[in-house]
Amino acid sequence: KKFQVAVLVGSLRQDSLNRKMARAMGRLAPSSLVLDIVEIGDLTLYNEDAEANAPAAWQRFRSEVGGSDAVLFVTPEYNRSVPGALKNALDVGSRPYGESVWSGKPAAVMTVSPGAIGGFGANHHLRQSLVFLDMPVLQQPEAYIGGAGKLFDEAGEIGVEGTRDFVQTFIDAFSAWIERCKA
Ligand code: FNR
Repeated sequence: KKFQVAVLVGSLRQDSLNRKMARAMGRLAPSSLVLDIVEIGDLTLYNEDAEANAPAAWQRFRSEVGGSDAVLFVTPEYNRSVPGALKNALDVGSRPYGESVWSGKPAAVMTVSPGAIGGFGANHHLRQSLVFLDMPVLQQPEAYIGGAGKLFDEAGEIGVEGTRDFVQTFIDAFSAWIERCKA
């Protein structure tokens, strides 16, 4: 069986290190996983008043995440927390009340930063929301990727062998976690 994994990238910029990581993970993933990036940059800020006539982008997002088996978050840290765009995407997907697209879906969190702390603050703030959203989150290995400014080669591959091996271990562990949650 193949599992569809919705990949949410917390950065909107074109040359995002996190987007590079998400793409690299798609190439490293075992053949049992199909990783597809679900875009979040066109989601207008969540406003309950708009539910009466929900924006097309919200509907597109809800249906793409809703149709997936699992969710992988790959995100930078903004001011020691989750980037607003990603938090907004969590909020959009969580409503209307009782129709959350997140409930029960296995998840994994990776943070990527050029800095030394590897996005620890964002990683754990994100996990706080995932508790309430009722997502079983992979606990080990944890993935705080620091020093990411020098990580990728010109082809977008992870150029540091130790990190590439770690990312392989991480995506394999997530695959095993999805199998366990879906068994
Ligand atoms: C940052 N950056 C950052 N880095 C970090 O490790 N901890 C932090 O708290 C912050 N805060 C922060 C706030 C804002 C508004 C921006 C724009 C940036 C730096 C950040 O890690 C860096 O720009 C990354 O390259 C962003 O990830 P992408 O876009 O490369 O995926």
